[in-house]
Amino acid sequence: MKAVIVPLSAWIALSAWAQQPLLESDSLAPYVPTPQEVVERMLEAAHLRPGETVYDLGCGDGRVVITAAQKFKAKAVGVEIKDFLVRSTSRKVQALGLTESVQIVHGNALKTDLSKADVVTMYLLTRSNDLLRPNFEKWLKPGARVVSYEYPVRGWEPVRTEVVEIQKIAHKIYVYEIPQSVPKGAKPAK
Ligand SMILES: C[S@@+](CC[C@H](N)C(=O)[O-])C[C@H]1O[C@@H](n2cnc3c(N)ncnc32)[C@H](O)[C@@H]1O
Repeated sequence: MKAVIVPLSAWIALSAWAQQPLLESDSLAPYVPTPQEVVERMLEAAHLRPGETVYDLGCGDGRVVITAAQKFKAKAVGVEIKDFLVRSTSRKVQALGLTESVQIVHGNALKTDLSKADVVTMYLLTRSNDLLRPNFEKWLKPGARVVSYEYPVRGWEPVRTEVVEIQKIAHKIYVYEIPQSVPKGAKPAK
């Protein structure tokens, strides 16, 4: 068997890359807040129930996670890549006394374990949703809902879509549901 010799320079470069902080190139969308009316409709459309856990991927100023906790009595996790937003949103959550129910994580939505999520919300771009779809298919449990504002998840059929009209502008919401798994031994429907 031949030994594989990795040049020291390549090893150093790889180690440095692995330790890199979050990169701008991981950005899935710029920061643009969702209108509050739409936030509430998204969570209603998800049928978010008290005690359920919602993840907002790219949580910005935290309006989705804060609304989920205050109005829907849900647990909420906001994942945000931008340091300044993480700091200001964490301060806001603390000031509102919501630290028991809302967690703000400085992280990359593409690398987030979603296995605890009952609902995932996002306001990203269609091509960003393309990147996230394999993660949803890997992590999300049957019955979990994915709600996207303005941009669809390509290749998935929404269970419903809703339109919120604000000052004559239509705002579209897409709701998806992870199907219940087929019971063991059951024949898949033809
Ligand atoms: C259009 S804003 C939506 C903010 C908030 N969810 C809302 O609805 O008001 C998108 C947010 O995603 C964040 N973002 C972009 N790429 C991300 C990534 N890879 N991981 C986590 N957050 C990201 C941006 O910094 C920005 O705050």
